[in-house]
Amino acid sequence: MTADMDPVKLMKQEVGRAAAAKVQSTSVVGLGTGSTTAFAIQFLGERLKTGDLTDIKGVPTSFQASVLAKQHGIPLTTLDEIDHIDIAIDGADEVDPQQNLIKGGGAAHTREKVVDSLAKQFIVVVDSSKLVDKLGTTFPLPVEVLPMAIAPVTQALIKLGGTPELRMGIKKDGPVITDQGNMVLDVKFTAIDDPAALEKIINNIPGVLENGLFVGVATEVLIGEVKNGKATVRTL
Ligand code: 5RP
Repeated sequence: MTADMDPVKLMKQEVGRAAAAKVQSTSVVGLGTGSTTAFAIQFLGERLKTGDLTDIKGVPTSFQASVLAKQHGIPLTTLDEIDHIDIAIDGADEVDPQQNLIKGGGAAHTREKVVDSLAKQFIVVVDSSKLVDKLGTTFPLPVEVLPMAIAPVTQALIKLGGTPELRMGIKKDGPVITDQGNMVLDVKFTAIDDPAALEKIINNIPGVLENGLFVGVATEVLIGEVKNGKATVRTL
C-alpha cells in the first residue's frame, strides 16, 4: 500500500502512521475498520517486521480488519482470550468538538463500538474533512438492524425525525449485509443536537443492534492535514 500525491490519501497515511507509533510492545490493540485505519495496520506490521515493536495482539473489529492484520503479520486474538484492550485505533465519519463521533461508513460500527469502548486508550484517526461543528450535518447515521425488523425500525426512525435509507451493495444486488448478517439503515438527520440521548433512544428501538453514535468513547483524536503540500498531524 503506497500513498500517491492524492492529499486525502496522504493525510490518512500520516495520521495512520502517527497512531501506529503510539502502540507499545506487549499491548493488546483494537484494530479498527476503514481506509485510514488500514494505514495504521500497515505501519504496525512494519514496526513488527523491523523489531521496533514486539509481542502485540490485535483484536479486529471486522472481517476486513482481520484480513488486513493477517496480511501485515499482526497476531490476532479474541475478546474470549483477553481481559483488557490497551489501545484501539479506529477511523470516523464525523468528529464533533467534544470528540463525539459518527461511525459505520464501513458498516462495522457494532463490533467497533464493542472493541473501542473496551480500550483504555481509543485513538481516532481522521483527515480534516471529518471535523464538524454538529454531528449529522454531513453524514447520515448508520443503524444496524435485524432484517425481519427493517419495516418497523424504519417507521420508528421516521417518527424520530430521521430519513432512513437502506444501504445497498456495490457490485452486489440488494442490501449490504453486515459481518453479523444484518442490514444497515443510513438515517439523515438535519443535525443531531443531543448525541448522547439519540444514541440511547435509537438503541432502545426493538430490532436495532447498534447505531453509529460514539459518545464519550474517544480519548484522543488525531487529525491529518495538508499544509503547503505537506502532510501534518495534530491533536483535536
Ligand atoms: C467503518 C468506520 C470507519 O472507521 C469510518 O467509516 C471511516 O472510514 P475511512 O477511514 O475509510 O474514512 O466507521 O465502519
